[in-house]
Parts: sequence; structure tokens; C-alpha cells
Amino acid sequence: MMHIDILTVVPELLEGPFSHSILKRAQQKELLDIQVINLRDYTPYKHKQVDDYQYGGGAGMVLMPEPLSLAIEALQKERSYDEIIFLTPDGQPFKQSMANQLSLKKDLLMICGHYKGIDERIRKKYVTREISIGDFVLSGGELAAAVLVDAIGRLIPGVLNNETSALSDSFQDNLLAPPVYTRPADFKGLKVPDILLSGHERKISEWRYDQSLKRTKERRPELLNPEEEK
Ligand SMILES: C[S@@+](CC[C@H](N)C(=O)[O-])C[C@H]1O[C@@H](n2cnc3c(N)ncnc32)[C@H](O)[C@@H]1O
Repeated sequence: MMHIDILTVVPELLEGPFSHSILKRAQQKELLDIQVINLRDYTPYKHKQVDDYQYGGGAGMVLMPEPLSLAIEALQKERSYDEIIFLTPDGQPFKQSMANQLSLKKDLLMICGHYKGIDERIRKKYVTREISIGDFVLSGGELAAAVLVDAIGRLIPGVLNNETSALSDSFQDNLLAPPVYTRPADFKGLKVPDILLSGHERKISEWRYDQSLKRTKERRPELLNPEEEK
């Protein structure tokens, strides 16, 4: 079973995302275990303080090193993490290939920043991987952590009913997914492509591949040349 701990100052933000649908089923099947940990439970300071002004001045509070260090070291006594991930806009951009790699790990700790972020020394001392979910700034790392857990969790063998369905998603082979259709075959005069109704498996898979390629060339040509993308 894969185990993911998430350290946060706003555990309430993570009450919803893991309690429904595929991630709920993954936990029920005991393929995935997710624990949300409140950083305030580990602070040695009065009034459950976890943040303070930044040295050098400037707006915005910073999560203090002491509570983070106490929390991380207490959690490390319980398990030895394969990766300690800090969610941050200046991290490595999150990609499907990274989700694939992380889905093979056993124990992950994700640290969510808040306010201006976390004290740099925690990043240096404990964090093994820094990940961004995109070139924009969220108020906290919680939604980013939820994105990672969702993308990783659905790849754990046995989580999706149809094992092959994750493999045919966008990005798995550097291609975007082809268009998909369901009933009715004629919707307000818009028809499903004949080939999909033909029952001819080889031709259908060729059509899907061509559509994937076309869509990727039109929308994300850089995916076809991964070296350039970096
Ligand atoms: C307001 S942001 C801090 C941004 C930081 N001052 C900066 O400019 O890099 C607060 C927290 O949200 C999380 N966060 C914000 N944007 C993110 C992104 N694109 N990817 C991952 N985490 C993000 C991080 O944990 C960050 O510490």
C-alpha cells in the first residue's frame, strides 16, 4: 500500500478531495493511505503559532522552521520517506512522467506552504523534491498537494477499474488524447465519426492515433519534441 502524509496549516482544505470517487475507492481497497497532518499540532510556541515575519522586512508571513522540523522528524520516526516533497511555484513543473515515477514509491511526505512560503532552511535540510503545478501562484500548497495525490493515486495498479485506461490518457506517450464520444450517435445533428461505429478494431486504433497526433500538433507541438520542451 502506498502511504502519503500531507503537512499543512489548513487541514480543512483537504477534507473533500480524497473522500470521493476514485481516491476514496483507492483507500477503501487499501491501495492508498492518506493522512493529513496539522502543522499546529507540532509547534512549541504559544497560541499554536507557526508563522512569523520575514527577516529583512517585507509583507507576508513565513512558516517557521521549528514547527516544521519537529513535525517532519516526528513523522520520520513512523516511516522512512522515499521523497519529502515541497509544493512551490519555483519547483520543477509537475508532469505526467513525474506522476508515473512517484506512483511507484511507497511513502511520500508532502509539505504545503502558506503565506510567503516556508523558511528556506527547511527546504535545504529535509526536502528531497520541489514541485510546482504550474506558472501561477496559489494561496497555499494544499490544492497543489491534492492535484499530485490525484494524479499519482489513479496510477497505482488496481485503483482504476480498467487497468489500461490510464495508459490511454493524454501525456502518457507524449500525445494528447483523441476525442471521445458516447451515445447517442446523432446529437442535435452532430454525428459520431463513422469509423467508431464500424467495430473494426485496428482501423479504430489507427484513427485514434491519427487524431491524437493531429491534436498534439495543433495544440501542443512541443510535446512531440520533448527535448525542446525542457
Ligand atoms: C502565496 S504562495 C507563496 C509564493 C512564494 N512567495 C513565491 O512567490 O514563490 C503560498 C504557498 O502556496 C503553494 N503554492 C503556490 N503556488 C503554487 C504552485 N504553482 N505549485 C505548487 N505550490 C504552490 C506553496 O506551497 C507556497 O509556499
